[in-house]
Amino acid sequence: MRSYRIAAIPGDGIGNEVIPAGIEILNALAEKDGFQFAFEHFDWSSERYKRTGAYIPEGGLAKLKTFDAIFFGAVGAPDVPDHVSLWGLRLPICQGFDQYANVRPSRVLPGVTSPLANAKDIDWVIIRENSEGEYSGSGGRVHQGLPEEVATETSVFTRHGVERIHRFAFELARKRPRKLLTLVTKSNAQRHGMVLWDEIFYEVAKGYPDVKTDRILVDAMTTRMVLKPGSLDTIVASNLHADILSDLAAALSGSLGIAPTANLNPERKFPSMFEPIHGSAFDITGKGVANPVATFWTAAMMLEHLGEPKAAARLMRAIERTTEEQVFTPDLGGVHDTRAVTSAVKRAL
Ligand code: IPM
Ligand code: MG
Repeated sequence: MRSYRIAAIPGDGIGNEVIPAGIEILNALAEKDGFQFAFEHFDWSSERYKRTGAYIPEGGLAKLKTFDAIFFGAVGAPDVPDHVSLWGLRLPICQGFDQYANVRPSRVLPGVTSPLANAKDIDWVIIRENSEGEYSGSGGRVHQGLPEEVATETSVFTRHGVERIHRFAFELARKRPRKLLTLVTKSNAQRHGMVLWDEIFYEVAKGYPDVKTDRILVDAMTTRMVLKPGSLDTIVASNLHADILSDLAAALSGSLGIAPTANLNPERKFPSMFEPIHGSAFDITGKGVANPVATFWTAAMMLEHLGEPKAAARLMRAIERTTEEQVFTPDLGGVHDTRAVTSAVKRAL
């Protein structure tokens, strides 16, 4: 029987509510489709950090590396600075496992109301560079607390890093019906890294004559997403630009509670990591009302990656059946809780 070893890291906040829901659905699916999952639970979280001083224990990444995929909830706690939790857990995995391609699809699921009138035109995949750029970690802080204090935060764009993400974006755009790839940039103001970013895009484009391209500055992109959503399809953007645009994309498609993501190591030298975009959401933690849809959609992306496209499609249909019937948590204007949405998706399976 086909079997997949999955590392489950619920992490913080509502990660502990949505990841168990996702596991329940994945197990139900596997049973139907004749394969199985072996989930191993990792307690890597802010709780663990406060208790032991580390998010990831000694030798943790080496162990994690042996899994087929990572199913991740969220990281972030009210009493740990955000940069400590992010650099303690999520980034060491993304960067350590060279998960350089972050894929973020958005569309308005059936039954969901978008704040946009022309919302049905939203069918986007944002590809986020996930290993360098503004999240390179390069920089420093000196003379702390003194009037001459200085902090630098350096964006790093390497030919290797830029070329591989553009190539990944062209490959993905080519597989989508419209074959349309939009380059997001800010090379007017940022005249070194972003100019290299643009130049390499057009070098790579030569190998993909069947893919239509255009280029837009990131500020103009926000208005285009709102006013002309149908003019976009596949989008490639730097680490920070795509981080920001993907929250906008999630809100425009109805809620941050439905947006999925995959952190991919396309060469499969390391396991890839699948997570809902929404974060730990401590304002609703423990209330049982977190929207599990982002996690289910994320699980469908994981199934695709594992080579189970039939199960992935079945799960997407079950999610859509459930949204169509408006079995919604409060973020989508509903009265249902995590449990009820999970049961509805399970029934639809
Ligand atoms: C995301 C998140 C993270 C990011 C946070 C949690 C640090 O916003 O995945 O989009 O900025 O990368
Ligand atoms: Mg974000």
